[in-house]
Amino acid sequence: MKLPFAESYKIKVVEPLYKSTRQDREQWLKEARYNIFNLRSHQVFIDLLTDSGTGAMSQFQWAEIMKGDESYAGAESYFKLKEAIKDIFGFEYFLPTHQGRAAENVLFSALVKEGDVVPGNAHFDTTKGHIEFRKAEAVDCTIDEAYDTDTNHPFKGNLDLDKLEAVYKKYPKEKIPFVVVTVTCNTSGGQPVSIENLKQVYELSHQYGIKVLFDSARFAENAYFIKLREKGYENKTIREIVADMFKYTDMMTMSSKKDAIVNMGGFIGMRDEEIFDKAKTFNIMFEGFITYGGMSGRDMAALAQGLYEGTEFDFLETRIKQTEYLGNQLIDYGIPIQKPIGGHAIFVDADKFLPNVPKAQYQAQTLTLELYLEAGVRAVEIGTILADRDPVTRENRYPKLEFMRMAIPRRVYTNNHMDVVATALKNVYDRRNKITTGYKIIKEAPIMRHFSVELEKI
Ligand code: F0G
Repeated sequence: MKLPFAESYKIKVVEPLYKSTRQDREQWLKEARYNIFNLRSHQVFIDLLTDSGTGAMSQFQWAEIMKGDESYAGAESYFKLKEAIKDIFGFEYFLPTHQGRAAENVLFSALVKEGDVVPGNAHFDTTKGHIEFRKAEAVDCTIDEAYDTDTNHPFKGNLDLDKLEAVYKKYPKEKIPFVVVTVTCNTSGGQPVSIENLKQVYELSHQYGIKVLFDSARFAENAYFIKLREKGYENKTIREIVADMFKYTDMMTMSSKKDAIVNMGGFIGMRDEEIFDKAKTFNIMFEGFITYGGMSGRDMAALAQGLYEGTEFDFLETRIKQTEYLGNQLIDYGIPIQKPIGGHAIFVDADKFLPNVPKAQYQAQTLTLELYLEAGVRAVEIGTILADRDPVTRENRYPKLEFMRMAIPRRVYTNNHMDVVATALKNVYDRRNKITTGYKIIKEAPIMRHFSVELEKI
């Protein structure tokens, strides 16, 4: 008999979870103004809000915490991280930052100016925020297949080369500081980009004199999918595939809180000394001196270790199989999700799930709140609220897909927890026809409103 699959680790330290009643949760949601960011963690049983900074570090990472060097300048931990980045990604230059959006802030301060245009594959919200904050425009060039949840394309993070070239033809190269390629593409559902596409984007961009930036938060999951899905890569190691991927970029921004399995951290990697010199000044102003840039020495040391662990096949296989375990149950229940199942999360198509709730009443938010009420499971809206208003017209921007995302922290929950999540969502699905009204916004911020928005039940 073929042996079943099992996790490639065992558990040494545990953290208690708290169960609650539906009545508790109704009260807490009201107090939270129907914004799940306002819940306290003990009010949540299974927390799938994000896979960012919520992973469990290994014993080797905790050992690195003890070994951290906290020197202001020239810390050994900095050099450990510098060597890991050179080894894994091939970048000569790097700047540490406290997280991914800080890397964006520093790099974009050096490269993006008012009136610029930044094409990419469904930019993440902080990336788009940092572009729009500088009065520049983010243009989505993702392939159309990504926006049909039932189309089973193996690389739904790919860029459409015609859309990209149209941007390059429309604007002078001085107005396009770079193209951002997000690997895997979070917004389209944790969907990978193929090496073939990375190579084509790089070649096309360089032909027009435009640089390529990888938003690399989930680069290792992208490499895992390449190994499984792209011809010619089945026998390569994850690290060999990562090295191949990063041949096709000039720079990277990294949120280390995802694939590097640390609770906090980020960095920028670059080949070009001129860009490094420009960005360095902003790093010192916003983050800290270049050999710590917003991170403790111990955190840089744990991050260096995490980059190696995050690029091990066994770790990635355990991780992605858990996402698939949850996703396949939902597919069996007939629940509409983005297919194929992505790397870090399940993206539920809330428009198909709750067709009776009007779009203007925030379908994905409504579904997120229903799931929380059902079982204390916290997911997150990746839909109209997150998409913010159009900066010019101030109208709601309805995204092509209205998602509820359930992101799975690394090495944290067991498959029993996934069973609870699947059953809870099925229960909501079974009573979906009775859910006909949603919520209205009573207070919101002008940008990135989802974090602080306040809502009222209709
Ligand atoms: N890029 C991508 C693709 C991301 O998913 C994130 C964060 C960032 C950049 C910003 O990094 O949080 O370290 O500042 N994503 C988290 C999420 C918040 O829940 O998907 P950060």
